[in-house]
Amino acid sequence: MASKADREQSSYFVREIDKNDGRALKLNQCYKGDVGCVVWDAAIVLSKYLETRGFYDPASGVNTWADRRVLELGAGTGVVGLMAASLGAQVTVTDLEDLQTLLQMNIQENQAMISRGSIAAKVLKWGEDVSGFLPPPDYVLMADCIYYEQSIVPLVESLKRLAGPLTCIICCYEQRTVGVNPKVEKQFFELLQKDFKWDEVPSNKQDAEFNSPDIRILHIQRKV
Ligand SMILES: C[S@@+](CC[C@H](N)C(=O)[O-])C[C@H]1O[C@@H](n2cnc3c(N)ncnc32)[C@H](O)[C@@H]1O
Repeated sequence: MASKADREQSSYFVREIDKNDGRALKLNQCYKGDVGCVVWDAAIVLSKYLETRGFYDPASGVNTWADRRVLELGAGTGVVGLMAASLGAQVTVTDLEDLQTLLQMNIQENQAMISRGSIAAKVLKWGEDVSGFLPPPDYVLMADCIYYEQSIVPLVESLKRLAGPLTCIICCYEQRTVGVNPKVEKQFFELLQKDFKWDEVPSNKQDAEFNSPDIRILHIQRKV
C-alpha cells in the first residue's frame, strides 16, 4: 500500500521551463487545488520575455534584473518570479495562503539556479495592507491575474498602493473571448486608466518562440 508521503508526492507533476542558458526551471504543479496550482501560458510568455535581450544579454553585459527589487502578484507556482531571481533580481513572490506550500516547494527545487538574486514567498491578498512590501518595488510582475470579476477592484487597489512613480508593472494575460472574460478585462482597464498608463509590447520584442497573438504583455506605469 502506498504511504502517505508517496500519495502526497504523487499529487504533484513537474513542468520544466527551459532557460536560455541551457538550464531549466522545474515547477511542481498540483493535481488538486485551485487555478494557481499549474503554470499558465501567460506565465511562460512573461518568463521568457524577462530573458529577452532588451533586459538580459550576457554577451554585452546588459542585465536589467541585477539587484532590482521585484514583486510578483498572484504568483501561483512562482515560475515568473523564479525566472527573475535566476537572472539576478531580489524577488518576493506573493499569492494567497493556500499557494504558499507550493511556492516554497518550487523555491527549494530551484535554489541552485539562484546565485546573485534571491527569492522569498509571502502572502498578499489583493486589496489588503501592502506596508510589508514597501518601499515601492522597481518591478511588479503579474501573469494571468485578470480573470474574475470580484478581484478587479482589489487588484487595481493593490497596484495603486504598491507602485511608485518609477515602478514598472509588467502585466501578461491571455485575452479570452468567452463567458465573462471580455467584461472582466474591460472593467480592469477602465479602472486602471484612472491612475495608470500603459504600452503594449509588440511580438517582435517578445521571445521569438514563446509568444502568442492572444497573450498580451503590457508595461504599466503610474500617471504623473
Ligand atoms: C490564473 S492563476 C495564475 C497563476 C500564475 N501567475 C501563472 O500565470 O501561472 C491566478 C493566480 O492569482 C491568485 N489570486 C486570485 N485571487 C487573488 C487574490 N484576491 N489575492 C491574491 N492572489 C490571488 C490565484 O491564487 C492564482 O495563483
